Amino acid sequence: MNNKTAEHLIIKDLLWRRTAKKYDTSKKISKENLDIIFESLRLSPSSINSQPWKFIVLDSQESKHRMFNTFDDRCRFNQPHIFESSLVILFAYNPNYTITDHAKVVDKSIVDGRLNLEDRENGFRAFVFAELNTDKNGYNANWTKAQLYIALGNLLHSLARLRIDATPIEGIVTELVNKEFSNELDGYQCDLLLAIGYSHEDDVNKKLPKSRLSRESIIKFI
Ligand SMILES: Cc1cc2nc3c(=O)[nH]c(=O)nc-3n(C[C@H](O)[C@H](O)[C@H](O)COP(=O)(O)O)c2cc1C
Repeated sequence: MNNKTAEHLIIKDLLWRRTAKKYDTSKKISKENLDIIFESLRLSPSSINSQPWKFIVLDSQESKHRMFNTFDDRCRFNQPHIFESSLVILFAYNPNYTITDHAKVVDKSIVDGRLNLEDRENGFRAFVFAELNTDKNGYNANWTKAQLYIALGNLLHSLARLRIDATPIEGIVTELVNKEFSNELDGYQCDLLLAIGYSHEDDVNKKLPKSRLSRESIIKFI
């Protein structure tokens, strides 16, 4: 990496961010920053603008307790973040994205002035890309889950820009989480949480150097 690249804001953000392993419970995210965070989630891109996601924010002691109780010994190391971080968000995807779901996207694009009402039918042409990823039972979770992780990546960078720490958490007992929050998830599937807040000064991970595979090993010019 040359000096100019190293000095670029994007690279500085990416080098700054580290997965938080311990939070400072005394520091909470401001309302202004929360507004930016939720807007960043909403503005995430997705294939055919499908937005097949739902974000459930643990906003009460009761909902945090419910999440806390879903952990078992396999993922106990992630459990403290539920109460110690500033906020926990459940990331969920729709495993059966249908033409009815797509109609909501099409109609919102008319409201937003992106599509004319008389061209509404054209808005459904792109649905073929959902169909290409859907099996005979209507299951397209591989595709919708991929879209959800774009929102994760987008938010991780937004958080880095705000100098807010985060922990993406796949280390959960998915069966228990999905059972506990089945009402709120309403058919969506949650395999991922995101804890956000400010890391503790004793968080060792914040002081470790960044480690990634070399560029040559992952990027090939042909
Ligand atoms: C999808 C995803 C799931 C992850 N799950 C966990 C987790 O359950 N617990 C944890 O401490 N870190 C988790 N991580 C953090 C990764 O281990 C971390 O991003 C990786 O080691 C690179 O380190 P860095 O984020 O500090 O750059 C997860 C990261 C991602 C992107």
